[in-house]
Amino acid sequence: MAKLKTKTAYLCSACGDDFPKWNGQCPTCKEWGTLSEFKVSPKKNGRIHELRETKNLIDVLSVEPKDRIPTGLSEADRVLGGGLLSGSLILLGGSPGVGKSTLALHICSGINRKALYISAEESEEQVALRARRLHVNPDQLFLSGENELDGIIAHIDRLKPELVVVDSIQTVMNSGLDSLPGSPSQIRDCGQRLLEVSKQKNVSILIVGHVTKEGTIAGPKMLEHMVDTVLYMEGDDRYDHRILRAAKNRFGATHEVGIFNMNEDGLHEIANPSEMFLAERSVNIPGTSIYPSLEGTRPILVEVQALVSNANFGTPQRNVNGFDYKRLGMLIAVLEKRLGLLMGTKDVFVNLVGGLRVDDPAADLSIICSAASSTMDKSIGEDIVLLGEVGLAGEVRSINRLEQRLNEAATLGFKKAIVPSASVNDKVKKIKIDLHPVKFVKDAFQILF
Ligand code: TYD
Ligand code: MG
Repeated sequence: MAKLKTKTAYLCSACGDDFPKWNGQCPTCKEWGTLSEFKVSPKKNGRIHELRETKNLIDVLSVEPKDRIPTGLSEADRVLGGGLLSGSLILLGGSPGVGKSTLALHICSGINRKALYISAEESEEQVALRARRLHVNPDQLFLSGENELDGIIAHIDRLKPELVVVDSIQTVMNSGLDSLPGSPSQIRDCGQRLLEVSKQKNVSILIVGHVTKEGTIAGPKMLEHMVDTVLYMEGDDRYDHRILRAAKNRFGATHEVGIFNMNEDGLHEIANPSEMFLAERSVNIPGTSIYPSLEGTRPILVEVQALVSNANFGTPQRNVNGFDYKRLGMLIAVLEKRLGLLMGTKDVFVNLVGGLRVDDPAADLSIICSAASSTMDKSIGEDIVLLGEVGLAGEVRSINRLEQRLNEAATLGFKKAIVPSASVNDKVKKIKIDLHPVKFVKDAFQILF
């Protein structure tokens, strides 16, 4: 057998680490079957390293912070931490068709600075067609279909844009590597090179990456470690609204969300999301209640719906949209054990209306009360909001930022709030809403039913 000259390594498609030997399980992230072979490019090994200087922190502190460039969409600015920071590397992930290219084009147009849109995925005509729909300002926007990494870098050198969009990372390749575009080694190498370029040339680079519905695809997940900011765009074909979420942000708060409507002429900001989420709310129907959620720094009121019915045969079904499945199981157990409602033979369905996903335990009280309301067939008053984490003893535990959440509820005309007594402070008491502090879920039931 001929001896292999090129060095072989094994790259994990889940965490991006590489190893000299193949393994069934990745030693770093413990995922199974994610290691695949790749050849280490000789070019990469031959790269010359420039030694960087060391600086005293005092000198670094004296440098003025960089300006933020507004993107023209205040929702996107908020998620980015107050606009686009020059020299930052941003990953924009999302499932195909959710609106990533649309958002990227809006940003290119909105910054009113020189921007380069690398559309390795779509033809220039397709991009132009979209640009026409979005009424993009074309003056400072340049397009290229280049998909070779060195070519892209050459364009950046020549054009000196302030923003580069790479749409998408799955179609870009370094021809020095002998793997296909979209493979883990290509994505990692291209991501690394783009990172170097953004820092050396002080250009912001927005990398678009597809994520499948399961969210497992190699690419974007692997890049998360490298980039400064990770944005995910979420949305559902059934709704017009799209949610932009910061999963990581080195220059701003994470878990900030931006909410848009996708129309025929692109994305539009939604200034008051609570109104949108409550637009079609059901009133006086057992099983629904209102939960003032907090997404990033912004309160959004959502309707929590539960339907509890007798299971006809076999194991009862439990189904939840927008909330943690296991946590729902825990809440059902609390209902059964601490509140005496027989749930073992019931099907339970829970839905957070509008496609919002909440992983804050503050939603527990609203969910448990909605489920109880459906079980007992007694509706919850339409002007009540419910908040609180529920513990295993059936106690209602404190939550964060109660004041902000209640302010939003009061603004939207809600009159009563059932809240954890431990979270009530002087500021909360000043809000124009009828406060009902509770220590246990059963206290809340006494008020409601
Ligand atoms: P797109 O930005 O191409 O998605 P992605 O880059 O994430 O794959 O947008 C895809 C969908 O959005 C497509 O089904 C058409 C729709 N769309 C609108 O509804 N309005 C618009 O103005 C545009 C440009 C697209
Ligand atoms: Mg696209």
